[in-house]
Amino acid sequence: MNRIDINSEEIKSIFASIGLSNKEGINYKQRLKKHRQITDFLVHIEKAVKKLSQKRTLVLLDCASGKSYLSFIANYYLTNVLERKVEFICIDYNNHVMEQSEIAAKNLGFNNMSFICDDIFNVRLTQCPDIVYSLHACNMATDMTIAKGIAEQAKYIMTVSCCQHFIRSNMKKHPLRSITKFGVYKERIADMLSDTMRSLILEIEGYEIDLFDYVPASETPKNVMIRAKKGSCHEKRSQQAQNEYKKLKEMFNVEPKLIKYLSYAQVDKNIQR
Ligand SMILES: C[S@@+](CC[C@H](N)C(=O)[O-])C[C@H]1O[C@@H](n2cnc3c(N)ncnc32)[C@H](O)[C@@H]1O
Repeated sequence: MNRIDINSEEIKSIFASIGLSNKEGINYKQRLKKHRQITDFLVHIEKAVKKLSQKRTLVLLDCASGKSYLSFIANYYLTNVLERKVEFICIDYNNHVMEQSEIAAKNLGFNNMSFICDDIFNVRLTQCPDIVYSLHACNMATDMTIAKGIAEQAKYIMTVSCCQHFIRSNMKKHPLRSITKFGVYKERIADMLSDTMRSLILEIEGYEIDLFDYVPASETPKNVMIRAKKGSCHEKRSQQAQNEYKKLKEMFNVEPKLIKYLSYAQVDKNIQR
């Protein structure tokens, strides 16, 4: 992928409209790390888009989108540079950021974006998304993103999670207590356990998984991406994932909220409880 030139006039005007820079085009210092997080995430969206049909309009769903920085830049790149037909649906339950995003889209003439102010869990879509993603969706919002992606049979699901309070506070009576007695390690193990269990569930659901640092840890410690591709996980691997999931669940006496969200969506039949 051609890296986005964040100094180009077009990108500068988008950054100003969405609040990553001031009107003079000077980037807000506290937002500089966000630039890298967005442009590096976009690399993976681009790769997925290139594998999808060119004949129809693709639908991209951004969960817990906040000010929707990633989707604005992705829209510019996919529409103007790659000349693909795309639609973006952004969901966030913060009314203020959704209103700001509506205004920014209007000012930029991006009329292929819609902004839904609601809990991800409540949203019923009228279109099937091809790619579902979230960047730093808090705690269980990452589970909701993955559940939504699986329920909607998205071809690609990508998440970079943020805090993992749920698993952290619910891991019980496990054999690594001599490590997790140190808060800093408890947090790391909770991070690893949350994303590993999510990945295993995706594999059980037939997705092929990559899990990797998508930006260097110096950019943000929350830098691990789960990238899932539908239908590419072999049956044998799905079966292994089932066993690995069960073992982890027993070892830590916990399971991610994703399981509950899938059962609400009635797509948990593949997972042995
Ligand atoms: C850390 S911000 C990340 C925003 C954006 N994705 C980014 O990277 O700039 C997390 C966002 O998740 C939203 N959020 C958290 N849980 C949510 C839920 N269940 N449904 C919808 N939005 C949620 C919050 O309102 C917040 O805007």
